[in-house]
Amino acid sequence: MGTGNYEPPPVGMPDVEILGRDRSGQAEAFDAIGDRYDEAFPHKEGQLAAGGWLAASLPAGARVLDLGCGTGLPTARQLTASGLRVTGVDLSPGMLARARTNVPQARFVQGDIADLADLADLADLVDVLDTPGDTTGATTGGAADGGAPSAPGLFSGATAFFALLMLPRSEIPATLAAIHDRLEPGGLLALSMVEADLDDVPIPFLGNTIRVSGYLRDELRQIVTDAGFEVIKEESYAYAPASVEVPPEEQIFLHCRRVLPTRLT
Ligand SMILES: C[S@@+](CC[C@H](N)C(=O)[O-])C[C@H]1O[C@@H](n2cnc3c(N)ncnc32)[C@H](O)[C@@H]1O
Repeated sequence: MGTGNYEPPPVGMPDVEILGRDRSGQAEAFDAIGDRYDEAFPHKEGQLAAGGWLAASLPAGARVLDLGCGTGLPTARQLTASGLRVTGVDLSPGMLARARTNVPQARFVQGDIADLADLADLADLVDVLDTPGDTTGATTGGAADGGAPSAPGLFSGATAFFALLMLPRSEIPATLAAIHDRLEPGGLLALSMVEADLDDVPIPFLGNTIRVSGYLRDELRQIVTDAGFEVIKEESYAYAPASVEVPPEEQIFLHCRRVLPTRLT
């Protein structure tokens, strides 16, 4: 999604450390980017394949989190069309507005994926979905390995497509652990990152500046494993965005399953 081939920031760029947990620049950038994100990344072969794996692996009605959901395209739409109940989370009000229009069947929550452990809205949404009388098939969602009903507050699957790279590296292991804890045992995670050795580096992106992180693939696999996931499958794609403003990049997709316990705790 645009982290390929970037040099470290020149001397004089703001020290990202002092920005702490202030994400306003990220949200504002994506508010401004809007539909141009989907225009710059039109062919999402790897993302659709990973979403297809998730959809094929979960029973109809299963609850799925789409983290850093963007415009809801293609993933929230793909998953809802496959019969899954999708809750999208994104920091950017502009992206969420598009997602709600693009995928009216899904639910969308504004939030920081680094705060996943504390996002009360998610548990509230699940509780609403699971109340008696709800006709959306709330009790039919379940584990990837059996289709049993999920416990309240837990999801059967999650996606994080080019979302964790929006965080500083220091926040990524804990965020993966929080995703682990939001999944029921055996729950599935489809994850993508751009392969790059970066930590919270400001980059120009579609006329804006965003901060991104990345890993080389062995390190990424290790971090995901340490957070309590088994990596079932890894795929990579050389991707050339449809915009001269974004350089070519190597995209990595991991198909993961929650195993117990997380090794971080
Ligand atoms: C590169 S886009 C990926 C969008 C979508 N997942 C896709 O692959 O098409 C990253 C998205 O993450 C959102 N984002 C950035 N930082 C975030 C954070 N800390 N928490 C939640 N969403 C965030 C942005 O607003 C943007 O919509």
